[in-house]
Amino acid sequence: MTQTLELAQRVAVVTGASSGIGQDVARRLAVQGMHLVLGARRCDRLEALSAELSDQHGVRCLAHPLDVTDSASVASFGEAADAFAGESGVHLLVNNAGAAFGVARLPTATLEDEADWQAMLDVNVMGLLRVTRRFVSGMVARGSGHVIHMGSLAGLETYEGGSVYCATKAAVRVISKALRLELLGSGVRVCCVNPGLVETEFSQVRLGSEEAATKVYEGMTPLTGNEVAETVEWVARLPEFVNIEEVTLQPVDQASAQKVHRT
Ligand SMILES: NC(=O)c1ccc[n+]([C@@H]2O[C@H](COP(=O)([O-])OP(=O)(O)OC[C@H]3O[C@@H](n4cnc5c(N)ncnc54)[C@H](OP(=O)(O)O)[C@@H]3O)[C@@H](O)[C@H]2O)c1
Repeated sequence: MTQTLELAQRVAVVTGASSGIGQDVARRLAVQGMHLVLGARRCDRLEALSAELSDQHGVRCLAHPLDVTDSASVASFGEAADAFAGESGVHLLVNNAGAAFGVARLPTATLEDEADWQAMLDVNVMGLLRVTRRFVSGMVARGSGHVIHMGSLAGLETYEGGSVYCATKAAVRVISKALRLELLGSGVRVCCVNPGLVETEFSQVRLGSEEAATKVYEGMTPLTGNEVAETVEWVARLPEFVNIEEVTLQPVDQASAQKVHRT
């Protein structure tokens, strides 16, 4: 049986930890005994999670504001995370913060939709690049570390109304692959996790109402953040000579981005 990597006492950074998948990833890593640096814009939520995880699992947690679209915010988050981690440094980065805005189709899109496109590019692509750049150099210097990017099934397939979101998630996948090549020989691992439908606040953010979001999951059983978190934990716990490059997971009720079985 393969030996698993002991994660206890190591430090993980989780972006987008104020909700959904990021919150569940933080919970699972705390069960493993990891100390956590939690980032997102809604710091009140991060503080509540941090208190919960310290109380329940005896791990150290730092809740720090992070807006991945703002270079200064990423810089100050990075400094706080490095100070928190001390000499051992950040072992694991779960670069999860991300969002979709709207379902505009190119032929009928309006000028106003440009703001949504820009916002998705800023958060999902530029934000992810900024955060990865900030932490990966320290990992290389230490000769070990792990970067797990939150991609999406939307990075592998396209659908009407999803051109820009799909493009951003295809970018996450491609960035992960290029990073893996760039890090070969450094001892640093890279993975891209691609979930299908997961019931979180994602669809509410995208569609702007709870009612519209509920319809996305109607008559089918979506994944929850917990199964994605379990996947992240599995990838992170494999021995350090193993690199899982990519994992795609979907609900049984979903066979492709648009092919969903509903009762
Ligand atoms: N749900 C799905 O079906 C699904 C499927 C595949 C992939 N994904 C991906 O999974 C990741 C997490 O999404 P989720 O489903 O958990 O959605 P969610 O519940 O809406 O969570 C999104 C997280 O991203 C954070 N975030 C958004 N903009 C940010 C910014 N500018 N700076 C820092 N943090 C920011 C949010 O925190 P604040 O708002 O507090 O900043 C929140 O914590 C995303 O990358 C998403 O694309 C989701």
